[in-house]
Amino acid sequence: MDIKIGASILNADARYLESAIQSVETSIDWVHFDVMDNHFVPNLSFGAGVLNSLSKNKIKPIDAHLMIENPDKWAPDFVTAGADSVTFHIEASKDPHRLIKTIKGLKSKVGVAIKPGTPLDEVKEFLEEIDVLLVMTVEPGFGGQSFMYDMLEKVKEARSIVNSKKLNLWIQVDGGVSESSIDKATAAGADFLVVGSAAFAAADPGKAMQELLKKAKQGIS
Ligand code: DX5
Ligand code: ZN
Repeated sequence: MDIKIGASILNADARYLESAIQSVETSIDWVHFDVMDNHFVPNLSFGAGVLNSLSKNKIKPIDAHLMIENPDKWAPDFVTAGADSVTFHIEASKDPHRLIKTIKGLKSKVGVAIKPGTPLDEVKEFLEEIDVLLVMTVEPGFGGQSFMYDMLEKVKEARSIVNSKKLNLWIQVDGGVSESSIDKATAAGADFLVVGSAAFAAADPGKAMQELLKKAKQGIS
């Protein structure tokens, strides 16, 4: 299993997003861009305009996590703004099959996310069509929350489906990924870890990210 790290810049210093990415760039594969609309979740973050600016000097591919209502309407804007992968929430989409097709048609990877209260059953029918399954390990809306260990059951179930059907699908976990949870997430079968405050709240984010990557690999060794 090839481990990938996505750095969530949600809780990085908004004045210096680009330097935040540079500070961890040697340990990460993706930049995780959290989009919140203050409706689907009770918080507001960045939109397509900020993504467009960040894309002008792309240090790593960008994975947009849309925590918004009506992704069916807005998702294409994020591809246009420079996202290399767009993940929408199954709870928010009116027509997921169609939205998956639309995003892929724009030459972007596509992901589907489930909130902690949403069972894996809700997304099983889409697994063969998507590139990323995002299992949320906190209630979406804020960085810096604690990892919900009971979500690892969903990760294990997803991993066994992916392996038995030989699907080309990354299993991503997002929220509360830290020194104490990251190896449990990879041991359960996650191969794409989103890290926010565990790196960016540390005195030396670059070093913290390096340690996290090391610990993630220990989970599968
Ligand atoms: C939560 C976001 C996450 C999160 C990551 O709604 O989707 O990407 O902010 O940050 P940490 O790692 O601090 O939980
Ligand atoms: Zn996220």
